[in-house]
Amino acid sequence: MKNTFYVTTPIYYPSGKFHIGTAYTTVLADTIKRYKKLRGYDTYMLTGTDEHGQKIQTVAEKMGKTPQQYVDEMAQQAKELWAKMHISYDDFIRTTEDRHKKVAQKIFEYFLEKGDIYKGEYEGLYCMPCESYFTETQLVDGKCPDCGREVKLMKEEAYFFNMKKYADRLLKYYDEHPEFIEPEYRKTEMINNFIKPGLEDLCVSRTTFDWGIKVASDSKHVIYVWVDALTNYLTALGYLSEDDTLFKKYWPADLQIVGKDIARFHLIYWPIFLMALDLPLPKTILVHNWIMMKDGKMSKSKGNVVYPEKLIDRYGLDATRYFLLRELPISQDGLYTPESFVERYNSDLCNDLGNLVNRTVSMVNKYFEGKVPEYNGTPNEVDTEFEEFTNKQIEKIEQLMDKYELSNALPELWALISRTNKYIDETRPWELAKNEETEKLESSMYHLIENIRKIGILLIPIMEETAQNLLKQIGIPENLQTWESLKKYDELKNIKVIEKGEPLFMRKNMEEELEYLRN
Ligand code: MSP
Repeated sequence: MKNTFYVTTPIYYPSGKFHIGTAYTTVLADTIKRYKKLRGYDTYMLTGTDEHGQKIQTVAEKMGKTPQQYVDEMAQQAKELWAKMHISYDDFIRTTEDRHKKVAQKIFEYFLEKGDIYKGEYEGLYCMPCESYFTETQLVDGKCPDCGREVKLMKEEAYFFNMKKYADRLLKYYDEHPEFIEPEYRKTEMINNFIKPGLEDLCVSRTTFDWGIKVASDSKHVIYVWVDALTNYLTALGYLSEDDTLFKKYWPADLQIVGKDIARFHLIYWPIFLMALDLPLPKTILVHNWIMMKDGKMSKSKGNVVYPEKLIDRYGLDATRYFLLRELPISQDGLYTPESFVERYNSDLCNDLGNLVNRTVSMVNKYFEGKVPEYNGTPNEVDTEFEEFTNKQIEKIEQLMDKYELSNALPELWALISRTNKYIDETRPWELAKNEETEKLESSMYHLIENIRKIGILLIPIMEETAQNLLKQIGIPENLQTWESLKKYDELKNIKVIEKGEPLFMRKNMEEELEYLRN
């Protein structure tokens, strides 16, 4: 069995600060990587920046910088954000790096030699001042969507990739590999909207700007843009370089996560490029939807952009990660509102999770001077049902995590938290203490600590700091923090909880927070 796990995010356009939407893919990839690591996989996560193209050249020039200076600063900014978000990537590829450029050129030449790339003429609606082509649908009132000026129908020499040649092979592949595209409806979309109506060949070069990788055999062309961008997933592993150890070890990718706007490029062009290279295809490409605002898409011009720093600085990284993973279902758009953010914070994190830990720690201190009673091995009626529920939930959560369905796994985890809170009300430890029903009281405390331990382990890939803090508060040694130990119910011995734990999350006042979040 392959025990490696290679996961990728798209490489981001370095055009200004990243918002919570852009951060979503990376948080999801990071969480899945951490989960797989905890399950014993040898993991590798790739992210990076997509640094070529007309847009970047123009923006840099406007700022009086060279494109290289500009992308250097932007890549640095991206790395700082990922550090702040504790993204545990193993490599950060930049498409302006030599290791990428050289190999992208080789791949282009190989496609040319094979006859998969041919020279033709590109025709499109061109805006002179912006030096950019647009399609009919991109125009705003028939004018350039960037500067609002007239566009002209223009032609230029360009290279094309012969996509048609691979269309049948791609359909066959889809058919034989149901796990290749998640969620499945994206496959139907690709087939009905793009493949069945006749796949168009893809333009893969430009001559109207030069901020790009030169075509080695024809230097007036730069590679544009998907042969440059998509091949990063291979070049980062050293494919076709002197040292291809990582490539041999990790390719094919196990999971590639992309947003819906770039689904077509990853579900059609990317597998076709790989087929043309005779390489195995990634096991799964997961397409997620978008985080939306009440008034639609997040955009600078609407002034409704939410930056992750704003949330992290006030509510902490874990609350931010939790919100993103919980509120964005993969197959539909998710909604961000300041109200829902604060509500999740207060209700899920503070009330449900925080209070559970707090109440339990103080009861163990009160009734047993902080020493967790040991398990007598014979659950009473309440405990049996509670143990069964817990085991069933863990199984469910595991299955959902295996399918990368974080937004479905989290409600199940919170159902376990709620059930554990309910167990306090069911067993009423304060009454057991008053009536000196010691055995029952011991069992109640044991089960609570045991469940909180399991909840802590389940939280490790999602909210590492909170999970560690929680496990520390209830005094769990490292050997009982493993995923395998989730299945155990009777191993806690000589455990001492902290005397006075800090609350995991502090309740916030809705009005004050809305004031902060709306400004
Ligand atoms: N450079 C290309 C990707 C090339 S991959 C070989 C690109 N970059 S991007 O910076 O524009 O977008 C990166 C990712 O962020 C995309 O997957 C996109 O779907 C995602 N998102 C952008 N806005 C988003 C939301 N509002 N919500 C969720 N994801 C969002 O595309």
